[in-house]
Amino acid sequence: MRMVDLIDKKRGGGELTTEEIRWMIDGFTRGAIPDYQMSAMCMAICFRDMTARETYDLTMAMLDSGERVDLSSIPGVKADKHSTGGVGDKTSLVLCPMAAACGLRMAKLSGRGLGHTGGTIDKLESFPGFSTALPREVFLQSVRDNGFAIAGQTGEICPADKKLYALRDVTATVASRPLIVGSIMSKKLASGADVIVLDVKTGSGAFMETEEAAFELARSMADVGRRAGKRVSCVVTDMDEPLGHAVGNALEVREALAALRGEYKGDLMDLCLALGTELLLSAGVAREEDEARAMLSRTIEDGSALRCFRRFVEAQGGDPAAVDDDRLLPRAPVVVEASSLRAGYVRRMDAHGVGLVSMHLGGGRAAKDDAIDLSVGVVLHKKVGDRVETGESLGTIHARSEEDAAKAAALLRSCYDLSDEPAERPPFIKGVVRGEEARP
Ligand code: URA
Repeated sequence: MRMVDLIDKKRGGGELTTEEIRWMIDGFTRGAIPDYQMSAMCMAICFRDMTARETYDLTMAMLDSGERVDLSSIPGVKADKHSTGGVGDKTSLVLCPMAAACGLRMAKLSGRGLGHTGGTIDKLESFPGFSTALPREVFLQSVRDNGFAIAGQTGEICPADKKLYALRDVTATVASRPLIVGSIMSKKLASGADVIVLDVKTGSGAFMETEEAAFELARSMADVGRRAGKRVSCVVTDMDEPLGHAVGNALEVREALAALRGEYKGDLMDLCLALGTELLLSAGVAREEDEARAMLSRTIEDGSALRCFRRFVEAQGGDPAAVDDDRLLPRAPVVVEASSLRAGYVRRMDAHGVGLVSMHLGGGRAAKDDAIDLSVGVVLHKKVGDRVETGESLGTIHARSEEDAAKAAALLRSCYDLSDEPAERPPFIKGVVRGEEARP
């Protein structure tokens, strides 16, 4: 086989065979196929797409490039959750303890933030002493003891994705449905869970800007899961504005803790209930949606989710006192309000722009190895549909210096589109795609 022939075939709209896809991914991972040829293939896939069968074969070839996590020593149903990436997305910090308190077991592998989106690992490092570099046995023991654990991804899981994602990032080939499906689903299948829920974002802060493209991605991921014998559901949600109000690592942890204490609701809790419902239904822990939601809500009301979270922080070396006293989390020295220069109703928000505000304050990475400041970010006071008066605060900026804060305030103002007419907030949850409905 020659890579140039496969590129030619895909460029002409042809369908690659299972053998061709496996040969290509194997050769690329071993370094036998150079980056320039793989880049050309990724671009051909961007333009010519892949069939459902090719997408499944690509996912399985990427899965087989590395190890799979063996969760067989953990009793109970093992669940996993993934988001296609958003701004202010601290869902895992709230959902994992809620699901664990309902009896599910979650062995979650997470990443760091890049660009305008944050990463769960960075957020958790806001707890003094917290470690996500856990030896495999400690990780599994923590899941057995506390219901869930969150560790960083190791190089042995899907090395093909690691290499391919780095290439896609610099060749403008990230936004391709089959390549996103292969990347996400290979890692999810490698993580060893029985049931998986995926939060597929749509809107200005997401890879899939239109709802139609987001549903297509959701159907495609659920279909790959079904072919691989896993129960996969996808919840398609809005990312036209950030999730919740806090954007920035320690600020998001504070919001997640408030949600676990039952003091913060809104879209963040709606999302945790929707994703958790899918997990409990797929796991057979609940039979009806209402029953699942009631079980999940109870974990907040009776404090069991918060207790689970406290045990988890302690098990991973973090200071559990910071769970109850969030003044122990990193705090920025400069706190200023970004006041509105005019009155009106928030018609639209640029979620991607708000993510960049946090990044420019030092809370996110422009490049993979950049150091970040966990204390900085923004807490929004106004979201789509809200009324704003002149001089009223749009958001509180947490910064390292007055100069950074002033720049961030101007940038934050530019993320708001205000109108004189009252604006409606579109539905936050757009729909659910379940594995059995996913046949394309
Ligand atoms: N997240 C991933 O892990 N991979 C993609 O391709 C896109 C989002």
